[in-house]
Amino acid sequence: MKTKLEEIKRASLEAIANSADAAELEALRIKYLGKKGELTAVLKQMGSLSPEERPIMGQLANEVRAAVEAAIEETSAKLAEVALEKQLLAETVDVTIPGKEVKVGHKHPMYIALDEIKDIFIGMGFTVLDGPEVEFAELNFDRLNAEEGHPSRDWSDTFYFDEDSRVMLRSQTSPMQVRAMDSMELPIRIVAPGRVYRKDEVDATHSPMFHQVEGMVIDKGVTMADLKGTLNTVVEQLYGAGTQTRFRPHHFPFTEPSCEMDVQCHKCGGVGCPTCKGEGWIELLGAGMIHPRVLEMAGIDPNVYSGWAFGLGLERTAMRRFKIADLRLIFENDVRFLEQF
Ligand code: PHE
Repeated sequence: MKTKLEEIKRASLEAIANSADAAELEALRIKYLGKKGELTAVLKQMGSLSPEERPIMGQLANEVRAAVEAAIEETSAKLAEVALEKQLLAETVDVTIPGKEVKVGHKHPMYIALDEIKDIFIGMGFTVLDGPEVEFAELNFDRLNAEEGHPSRDWSDTFYFDEDSRVMLRSQTSPMQVRAMDSMELPIRIVAPGRVYRKDEVDATHSPMFHQVEGMVIDKGVTMADLKGTLNTVVEQLYGAGTQTRFRPHHFPFTEPSCEMDVQCHKCGGVGCPTCKGEGWIELLGAGMIHPRVLEMAGIDPNVYSGWAFGLGLERTAMRRFKIADLRLIFENDVRFLEQF
């Protein structure tokens, strides 16, 4: 029995020392120390020994068990260490590899121009308003003195949401005049930028969606001279001192008198070229003195108060500001184009 125990000790320690991984080690533990293991089998034979031999063999068996357990523990720790080392090596991060470039977006030239416009007006004491693109026809038309039958209300020009033409995509930012009159205390000085929609085909100067900036002042004693002075100041701040403007008579239902303002073409300096369609001038906005009927409908007494308003085409303003020849470039969002500003 002594030889048997010593043989078990020798063989098991050798196998344990050579085991390659945790699974193999566990198999060896079962083989030697398990319920049906080799050492257990020897211990079961203890009963057949003489009373003198029994304690000696018992002690020897315990020693063998302790030695095998210690060896398993030691090897297990060693294997765990090796495994960890291997894992760490596999997960190494090479901090010298160049990082992925994070692309930062670019501000759109039209919004650069809009921010400049806002800054100029804020500097003159105007408040910037935001309003809905889905608008009531009442505010887009009726309250602006464009009654039933006015050509701009036609289904061929306007995106309506319902059969009775009550709700629409606003065709101009002018309903913001009405919203300001209805909600603000007098005197009023506002600008209201935003998207507007018309049933137009896309070409170099048209798009079914474009942007306007509405402006309005209502106070006592406001005149057309204030309108011209304000707009000329804005144009000079935007495009540089000495930029030429031209006011032409026009008609809008909600202003009287009405006008359109042009600035001299940036491409040809007024001689005439494809960008200005040979005119030498580019139309930037419509404007005028607020019609007394419009003031009245808002409960403002036109005998006490007067006001002016304008609606500026933002794309055109940005095109003039950055010398862009084609409107489509503004909407295509080609990064190679946008990055230039
Ligand atoms: N709303 C007009 C347009 O879209 C422009 C305008 C605004 C004219 C304010 C006069 C006063 O053409």
